[in-house]
Amino acid sequence: MLKDFRLNTTPNKKYKFAPSLLAANQSEIANEVKRVPNADWFHVDVMDNHFAPNMGFSADALKSIACLKQAPIDAHLMIENPENFLKTFIKAGADSLTIHAEATREIDKCIDIVKESNKRIGIALKPDTPFSDIKKYLTKIDMVLIMTVYPGYSGQVFLHNQVEKIKEVRSEIDKSQLDIWLQIDGGVGLETLEIVLDAGADFFVVGSSVYYEKDPESALNILKQIVTKNQRP
Ligand code: DX5
Ligand code: ZN
Repeated sequence: MLKDFRLNTTPNKKYKFAPSLLAANQSEIANEVKRVPNADWFHVDVMDNHFAPNMGFSADALKSIACLKQAPIDAHLMIENPENFLKTFIKAGADSLTIHAEATREIDKCIDIVKESNKRIGIALKPDTPFSDIKKYLTKIDMVLIMTVYPGYSGQVFLHNQVEKIKEVRSEIDKSQLDIWLQIDGGVGLETLEIVLDAGADFFVVGSSVYYEKDPESALNILKQIVTKNQRP
């Protein structure tokens, strides 16, 4: 179960936004969290400079963000062999943990570790990985994350060739009638939000489109309004 969050009133609504703190000013992360009181979740990228060509947030850094209790923490683990680190990030305060299909041969073990702790488990796909690689896990997971950039950095250009994959996952989720969230990460903003919404996404990671703006709270509100106006029936 999700904890109660002071400023977050709607953690279970159909459409959710998670500002990605990788795009924020790294020298004042606590303040950057506070600047977006309308975030439904905070997206925390964990990288080991191996699976993805960059360093991300450590477990300690995630813990400080979780301690602010402003919104639940969505940990995106872009690391090899996540099965060895899941417990550390759960202990640090992650509410949802997303592993990469390409990063482990122990997907079942990862699912078990996260479910034992009563947290949400997601599986992410890099742009070149087909959905068929993880289809068999659908009944066991809470979220699929489709990457619309190659893992590593904020501010990259949205890869339009991923839209068909988003549609494919949406169709499979609807067919199965499972309660699985469909998250998109990479280049989601004013120009691409409607595209991923139409394709079937319901959880939007927003890095540069929020944190590169002068007023990130207003930037997020504008994105939320786009979803309200265009939401799927
Ligand atoms: C990229 C990260 C993203 C990134 C998103 O590897 O997983 O979460 O911060 O940033 P934007 O929205 O700018 O693409
Ligand atoms: Zn991410």
